[in-house]
Amino acid sequence: MKTLFDETTLRGIRLKNRVWRSATWLGLADANGFMTDAIISTYETLAEGGAAVIVTGLTSVSATDAHIGGECKFYDNRFIDGHRRLTDAVHRHGARILLQTAMVDGPVDELTTAQADDVVTIFGDAAQRAEQAGYDGVQIHAAHFFYLSKFISPLFNHRTDGYHGSGILPAILSDMRSKTSRKFCITMKINSSDEYPGGITEDDFLVTSRLMAEAGIDAIEVSANGTSRTGIRAGVNEGSFLEAAAHLAGEVEVPVVLVGGLRSVEFIGQVLNNTKVEYISLSRPLIREPNLINRWQQGDTAPSKCVSCSGCYRTEGHQCVFNIKQ
Ligand SMILES: Cc1cc2nc3c(=O)[nH]c(=O)nc-3n(C[C@H](O)[C@H](O)[C@H](O)COP(=O)(O)O)c2cc1C
Repeated sequence: MKTLFDETTLRGIRLKNRVWRSATWLGLADANGFMTDAIISTYETLAEGGAAVIVTGLTSVSATDAHIGGECKFYDNRFIDGHRRLTDAVHRHGARILLQTAMVDGPVDELTTAQADDVVTIFGDAAQRAEQAGYDGVQIHAAHFFYLSKFISPLFNHRTDGYHGSGILPAILSDMRSKTSRKFCITMKINSSDEYPGGITEDDFLVTSRLMAEAGIDAIEVSANGTSRTGIRAGVNEGSFLEAAAHLAGEVEVPVVLVGGLRSVEFIGQVLNNTKVEYISLSRPLIREPNLINRWQQGDTAPSKCVSCSGCYRTEGHQCVFNIKQ
C-alpha cells in the first residue's frame, strides 16, 4: 500500500514524500532572464511547505528562443550563480529541485539535421550547467505545445531523418547523460494527448514514453495540452489525465508522475493504491496554499482550497487571486 508521505528514492536520491510541485512559470526573472530574489523567495516558501520535489518554471536553454515575459534563461554559464542561490535555498528545507529545461518555440521541418543536432546539444549543455548550479536533475519539457512538444507532434514534424517522430527526445536524453554525473536525475513532461486533430494521441504518447523508458529516463510526468483545466472539484472530477498515466504506469518500470486537477487526499490515495502511479504533482493548489502538504501531513486533510479558476495565470508573479500580496 502506497501513501502520500512514503519516503522513496529516485536515481538514488531520497525524496521525503510523493509530492512534486509541477513546473509553474512565475514571470519574475529580470529583463535578461536572470534569477531574482522574488523567484528564490517563492520557491523557498514552497520548499518549506512540504513538497518533496520542486520543478522550476520553464527555463529557456536557447539564446535565440522566443521570449515570454519574466521567463528564466539558462543558455550560458553567466546564469549559474543565480541558480546556485536558488538550489541552495530549496535544499536548506529538505526539498529536491529539478530545472525545467525548455524552448518556447522554433522551426521543426525547416531545420537541417545539423541544426537539429544543435538543439540537442543546447539541451545537453543546459543539463551540465544545471548540475554545476546544484540542481538534483532536470525535466525535459515536451508538453503543452512548447517547442519540443511540437517537435514530436505529427502536426508539426514531417521530417524524414533521425529526428522524425519523437526521435529528438532520446537524443536529448543521451546528450544530457553524457554531460552529467550518474546521480543526476533526468525526467520529462509529456502530453498524453495534444487534444488537437492530427496531433499526438494516447497511443503515440505510450509509444514515445516506452521509448524513453527504454532509453533510461528517470520519471515521466503525464500532462496534456488542456493542462490547467478549470472547474475542478474535489471528489467530483479530479485527475484530468489519470487514465493515460495509469495506463503508462502499468506498462513501464519508470516512475510515472500524475499532474492535473488533483485536489484531495482521498482521491490521491485512490490514485496511488489503485494504479502504479508513483508520484503526484500539483501546481495551482500550491499557489493557493504553499503550505498544503504540511497541512495534510499534520492531519488537516480538508481538500485544497484551490477553485481552479486559473486566475493565477493573470496575476503578477502568478499569485492566487484570493491571496494577492502587493
Ligand atoms: C501560472 C501557471 C504557470 C505554469 N507554468 C508551467 C510551466 O512553466 N511549465 C509546465 O510544464 N507547466 C506549467 N503550468 C502547468 C502546471 O504545471 C500543471 O501541469 C497544470 O496547472 C495542472 O495542474 P494543477 O491542476 O495542479 O494546476 C503552469 C500552470 C500555471 C497555473
